Amino acid sequence: MTILITGGAGYIGSHMSWLMQDNNQDAVILDDLSTGNINLVPRNMRLVVGDIADEPTVERILRDHQISAIIHFAGKIVVPESIAVPLDYYRDNTSKSRTLIALAVKHGVKHFIFSSTAAVYGDTQDPLVTEESEKNPASPYGRSKLMVEWMLQDAAQAHGLTYAVLRYFNVAGADPQGRTGQSTRNATHLIKVACEAALGRRPELLVYGTDYPTADGSCVRDYIHVADLVDAHYQALNYLKQGYPNTVINCGYGRGASVFDVIETVKRVSGYDFPVRLVDKRAGDPTSLVANTSKLRSTLDWVPRNDNLATLVRHAFEWEKKLGQSSSA
Ligand SMILES: NC(=O)c1ccc[n+]([C@@H]2O[C@H](COP(=O)([O-])OP(=O)(O)OC[C@H]3O[C@@H](n4cnc5c(N)ncnc54)[C@H](O)[C@@H]3O)[C@@H](O)[C@H]2O)c1
Repeated sequence: MTILITGGAGYIGSHMSWLMQDNNQDAVILDDLSTGNINLVPRNMRLVVGDIADEPTVERILRDHQISAIIHFAGKIVVPESIAVPLDYYRDNTSKSRTLIALAVKHGVKHFIFSSTAAVYGDTQDPLVTEESEKNPASPYGRSKLMVEWMLQDAAQAHGLTYAVLRYFNVAGADPQGRTGQSTRNATHLIKVACEAALGRRPELLVYGTDYPTADGSCVRDYIHVADLVDAHYQALNYLKQGYPNTVINCGYGRGASVFDVIETVKRVSGYDFPVRLVDKRAGDPTSLVANTSKLRSTLDWVPRNDNLATLVRHAFEWEKKLGQSSSA
């Protein structure tokens, strides 16, 4: 059984690639390296550089490697950018995923795991967001992902493919063994940006909005360690292989941290102070997104190992220091 990992040279995908290697699971990566990095991937893992919508390339991989499951990470991920250039997001996230799903069906791929996002919920009022909470995405990014969920649901019904949709809340941290981490230039993830500020690679950290109806006025998010997140994918694959039905699962820890909580933790863990500037809200940022994780914990054989904000920040900070020392990653 060989697994295709799209976007396997990206931040989350590279952690998945290492987890596959650690478990002696045969896998092939397909990545166009638009934001991914070849140096984040295990050296002996097969990597095809190409686009997920390049049909001859994808067909060759599916056929030559007899792919039985696809874990689909590839896509564009920046919410404000999706508001500026929405059609790029509908092309890269929605339309290209349609091509990939169609080829998966054509070649009899059995299982499909899709990287979805808490952005499908939008500005929900639910203090803990369940999978059934209202879907009202506040950005083209969220809509581009929700449409893929619908396509998967319909394709599964018609063609018998089984799927797990994993809706990530905020992903952060890095491989505890230091083999990979978030390396994208100009990344917008708060914990990475704060670590960059702590190391003096940014002059300051911007806080977007301080009058949200939260305890300290800043946005609240549920930060999940990337190592625990990819383990949820591994468990989701086992779940589908055992013949269980299609599922949609929130991935978080079920606990919120505010922007100011994160800043305080980064300063404490890194030992560095840095300037923080308060600016206006950004479009498309919900007030609070915290997962109800009952389904994750009850459906999958998943036990989180890094459920602690300080641990998560420590791994992110260690990786950020390493990035500064090496030009290879
Ligand atoms: N990082 C988060 O907090 C977060 C939260 C929710 C959902 N997600 C989802 O997780 C997935 C992975 O995100 P990430 O943070 O690792 O991003 P990333 O940018 O690091 O990884 C995406 C990878 O996909 C590759 N890629 C992009 N378009 C491609 C294409 N058309 N063909 C082949 N390869 C392509 C890129 O080169 C990159 O390696 C995305 O689908 C994203 O929407 C991420």
